Amino acid sequence: MRTQVAIVGAGPAGLMLSHLLHRSGIDSVVVERRSREYVEQRVRAGVLEQGTVDLLREVGVSDRLDREGLVHRGIELLFDGVAHRVPMSDLTGGRAITIYGQQHVVRDLTVARLATGGRVHFDADDVTVSGVDTATPRVTFTVDGRREELVCDIVAGCDGFHGVCRDVLPRSVRQLLEREYPFGWLGILAAVPPSADELIYAHHDRGFALASLRSPTISRLYLQVDPREDLADWSDRRIWDELGIRLAHGGWSLGDGPILEKSITPMRSFVCEPMRYGRLFLAGDAAHIVPPTGAKGLNLAVHDVYVLAEAVADWYRTGSETSLDGYSATCLRRVWRVQHFSWWMTSMLHRFPGHDAFEQRLQRSQLEYVVGSPAAATTLAENYVGLPWT
Ligand code: FAD
Ligand code: PHB
Repeated sequence: MRTQVAIVGAGPAGLMLSHLLHRSGIDSVVVERRSREYVEQRVRAGVLEQGTVDLLREVGVSDRLDREGLVHRGIELLFDGVAHRVPMSDLTGGRAITIYGQQHVVRDLTVARLATGGRVHFDADDVTVSGVDTATPRVTFTVDGRREELVCDIVAGCDGFHGVCRDVLPRSVRQLLEREYPFGWLGILAAVPPSADELIYAHHDRGFALASLRSPTISRLYLQVDPREDLADWSDRRIWDELGIRLAHGGWSLGDGPILEKSITPMRSFVCEPMRYGRLFLAGDAAHIVPPTGAKGLNLAVHDVYVLAEAVADWYRTGSETSLDGYSATCLRRVWRVQHFSWWMTSMLHRFPGHDAFEQRLQRSQLEYVVGSPAAATTLAENYVGLPWT
């Protein structure tokens, strides 16, 4: 098989890249380890930045997003039992976030790609990448028991944090920068109407909690837990009780109902530099992970492939490698801004085991400053809705 760009991974990054390239007349093939059903049902992110929504609209993949996406113009920060609204749109000249499940973005992009003749190989085993330091890199994989070889000009490593592409960068050229947090998030999806109109980020002595949603009938909620916690120790009753305690404020009460899904995710910050080696370009979670407190991972993945698609198109059009050469540095500037914001939100809102009274007072002071000062609230708001794209 021959293509111009071989894309490893059919997550938001890989599918959006394939779609953007197609619109520039560039052929690509996507190779995905999991089944189509699996990737279209994997529950993960839910907050789309304004820039991500704008791009989905621009590329014609927003029919359902425009019908079902929920536009949010503020969030609540809850501490000491009092909720404070951060009016994001007022502070950012009208920008907003949209609640729309990542699996829907993946499904919409898959449908769009297949409708335009895109080649997406699901259930591909033993994917290997080679020859990225030559002009004809190769991606090999097994489907239906047959070994296939894909010869291409460029490989896009969009295979997430646990993928194989990052390891293709020789140890001598790559630097991995990392922070592990001493907690994880227990996340649930529940068949219960959201109890609040806007997202509530709660700082509580028992740990952080977040009330989010997916639709008028589905809630998404998170609890800070020890990352080694056993999910079996968290009955539905215990989860609802703990959420009720951490999210309590005023006369507000949390409605409960059937839990459809639960999981525990460890939290880390991670960056691989550079994001390119030879003809291999990393994008999305393959290159960087942010803790979910800033709701940024999916949005950052989409920004990477936007930059990559432009650079690849420029190379085919002009023969100049200037844009490809600038890819890593351009992306890493935004990656580090988002890393800082996600780390800052995480540090401000969680309970850190081992923190003493001094650190707790600093944390409280930071929260009071953010909700009391328009300048500080604007810092949160403009990062949360997403700084303008380069
Ligand atoms: P992925 O979505 O991980 O896609 C990679 C794909 O590659 C997968 O389909 C995988 O199966 C495939 N793959 C892996 N290995 C191979 C291989 N060897 N060969 C072939 N294919 C392979 N982000 C936000 O922006 N907002 C949020 O609100 C938010 N909330 C989150 C909540 C949780 C609980 C979690 C876990 C994450 C959240 N994120 C959020 C982060 C977001 O989900 C990720 O950043 C996003 O999925 C990154 O997209 P991606 O395409 O780079 O990687
Ligand atoms: C979600 O709805 O899944 C969500 C919302 C906000 C976050 C993280 C996750 O910061």
